[in-house]
Amino acid sequence: MALPKIYVALDCQTENEAENLVSKLPAGKVGLKVGKELFTATGPDWVKKQVDKGFSVFLDLKFHDIPNTVAKAVTSAAKIGVDIVNVHASGGSEMMRAAKNALNQIDRSPLLIAVTVLTSMSDAELAEIGIQSSAEQQVLKLSGLAQQAGLNGVVCSAQEATMLKSELGSSFKLVTPGIRPANSSADDQKRIMTPEAAIQAGVDYMVIGRPITQAEDPATVITEILQAIGE
Ligand code: C5P
Repeated sequence: MALPKIYVALDCQTENEAENLVSKLPAGKVGLKVGKELFTATGPDWVKKQVDKGFSVFLDLKFHDIPNTVAKAVTSAAKIGVDIVNVHASGGSEMMRAAKNALNQIDRSPLLIAVTVLTSMSDAELAEIGIQSSAEQQVLKLSGLAQQAGLNGVVCSAQEATMLKSELGSSFKLVTPGIRPANSSADDQKRIMTPEAAIQAGVDYMVIGRPITQAEDPATVITEILQAIGE
């Protein structure tokens, strides 16, 4: 079954807050992105409950460890029943291959996506940790490495989507935050794109938080976005 185009970022700290938000979301139409903040508060059983309700889940835990540990971690994620899981490409190709090989042993395996360079990192900060290339060069290098290791795609900004699709091909999936419908606030996002422009640029899955989660009626915003992207 095709995965939803929109994953709602559940940036919540408590189970109650997350439950309240999820109760306003349509299970068949959007997925849920669960990151470190919520997962550390609620754990795998809560995530499994959302899967059982019919939600597609992107488990955004950005694993980065020795190959054996990451292979086991993504296997545990697959057992919860999530559809997307991610690792840091900077963990290296052996780590990424180990994770992919582990998932290949599983019947219904999630998409394995790489995080390349955190958008919070400037070129100066990259230099501090010994990386002399620009953030853009590093994104391209790590995306290529992820593809060679057999990963299904990368997390990237919508601005990088056209370049990455042309370098890496249309089947390499792009998962993208920083999406803002035309009439909504940018919040603290610096480089934003509308859902329709992002899809046009080749983005496969959009992670959208505040425009949906802070809305008085999240379901209406979701309907409008889905209409705008022709879903
Ligand atoms: O509320 P908003 O739509 O800005 O939420 C975007 C989500 O995507 C948040 O969970 C944020 O942490 C995440 N994210 C991001 N930019 C990145 C990576 C992740 O906004 N580069």
